[in-house]
Amino acid sequence: MEISVQEYARQCAAQGLRGDYLACRPDFTVRQEYDYDEAQQEVWRLLCDRQTRLTRRLAHRSYLDGVETLGLLERIPDFDEVSAKLRKLTGWEIVAVPGLIPNAPFFDHLANRRFPVTNWLRKREELDYIVEPDMFHDFFGHVPALTQPAFADFMQMYGDKAAGIVDLGGEEMMGRLYWYTAEFALMQEPGQPLKAFGAGLMSSFSELQFAVESPDAHRVPFDIETVMRTGYEIDKFQRAYFVLPSFDALRDGFQTADLAGIVRRWKDEPALDPSTV
Ligand SMILES: [Fe+2]
Repeated sequence: MEISVQEYARQCAAQGLRGDYLACRPDFTVRQEYDYDEAQQEVWRLLCDRQTRLTRRLAHRSYLDGVETLGLLERIPDFDEVSAKLRKLTGWEIVAVPGLIPNAPFFDHLANRRFPVTNWLRKREELDYIVEPDMFHDFFGHVPALTQPAFADFMQMYGDKAAGIVDLGGEEMMGRLYWYTAEFALMQEPGQPLKAFGAGLMSSFSELQFAVESPDAHRVPFDIETVMRTGYEIDKFQRAYFVLPSFDALRDGFQTADLAGIVRRWKDEPALDPSTV
């Protein structure tokens, strides 16, 4: 069932979410008013400087290439400028949103190669942790990967198929697939140790190091059906990280997977425990 902007704004206010949802257009986007003050620019630089010291060593090459291409670390990004670059590379653009938006418009944006990015930034006292995704998570974490054609195609396909799979009762399973690919994943890189991928890892100072370097991290070969069956928790380090062979393998695997069949087989079964998967 689709929810109106007004009703969603009411629910978000009741939950204490920070964004100004009443400013949304019917597709839940807002204008990015580029009116960030010097203190906010300083928080952006602090976050980027600190995290880049880690990503240089631990992030997958494809992500780092994306960062370099977009050049987004000096100041808070202007979404229109970034969209102009992305459009030329992979046909994607970014749109401003006040924060998390409902599934239906989120899937629709992805299906049309628009990535929603939160228009506000965390405060200085929240450098290490914030409950809601903010611009640093959405932008620094997600957007560089959209410069990579195979991943960009996967994200569009995900948006395209998601609504239909949700209708079959597969909402949680599609959520897990997003979680273990776009948010928390590892990926092979020729001649290199495993590298990190995903916005949840890129935007986390401590979990990025844990996922890649800790002997205690549980790393599992990627398999779409297993991923869709594996539970996760949002406020702890992940108890499993799936290892992608490549973006091509992710896109091709997703394109040919019998998602409806997977949902039919497993939707009424309990989720797999990530510790033992
Ligand atoms: Fe995210």
